[in-house]
Amino acid sequence: MDADSTSLKGPRHVAIIMDGNGRWAQSRGRPRLFGHHAGAKRVKEIVRACKPLEVKYLTIFGFSTENWKRTQSEVAGLMSLFRQYIRKETRSLKKEGVRVRFIGDRVRLDEKLVALMDELELLTAENDDVHLTIALNYGGRDEVARATRRLAFDIQAGNLLPQDVDEETLPKYLDTYVLPDPDLVIRTSGEARISNFLLWQSAYAEYEFIDTLWPDFSEEEFRKVVSAFGMRKRRFGAVPA
Ligand code: IPE
Ligand code: IPE
Ligand code: MG
Repeated sequence: MDADSTSLKGPRHVAIIMDGNGRWAQSRGRPRLFGHHAGAKRVKEIVRACKPLEVKYLTIFGFSTENWKRTQSEVAGLMSLFRQYIRKETRSLKKEGVRVRFIGDRVRLDEKLVALMDELELLTAENDDVHLTIALNYGGRDEVARATRRLAFDIQAGNLLPQDVDEETLPKYLDTYVLPDPDLVIRTSGEARISNFLLWQSAYAEYEFIDTLWPDFSEEEFRKVVSAFGMRKRRFGAVPA
């Protein structure tokens, strides 16, 4: 295999911070929730675009541990949208070979939503074409803290020695333990920050900050960003030969 870091290989794992729904709606004089509904339609399209682009893993940020700071009505509307999305999409996701997983802390999510999440994971567990991971009540710091807590319990129980804890150990306790690290992180809406998304996992990801608001992010733009990734020189700290 060609080990050259400039080989025109697409990203295997793309992660997306889907931002800008609120501004999209407000610019149309509509409530923020209208933007979230428009955003959900984009999700369907982008998930479908993955397979032909050979993007095997897609991880999307749906709700952060900080998003609870929003008004009660926006939070409730989002939670209801997540339930609706799962109910409506389960059949086609299953049929289209998409395996769905959720990351984030489920403890604060309502029971009905968690039951739907569990069911969708179970129903798509045999699929292997595209692995879709949805981050709900997810925060990178929260994830690392929860992982560290579990790791500490394992040490206390005698399953792990402190001197054996290294860079390979910690990720086994993260919510993403079965996933490869993201190659490309895309954020829409013009904000150049990561807002607590996949902190550990994105250490060597390539970033693409795009001005388009999420509800306007088209399949075509996604395709362009994914193909531009192949032109990037990834060095991982080394000096290429
Ligand atoms: C992203 O859009 C979706 C969520 C955070 C749930 P926003 O709701 O953050 O939209 P803006 O950034 O206010 O435009
Ligand atoms: C990040 O977007 C979270 C999601 C996309 C779900 P935010 O809109 O919450 O991030 P900030 O507040 O602009 O940093
Ligand atoms: Mg935002």
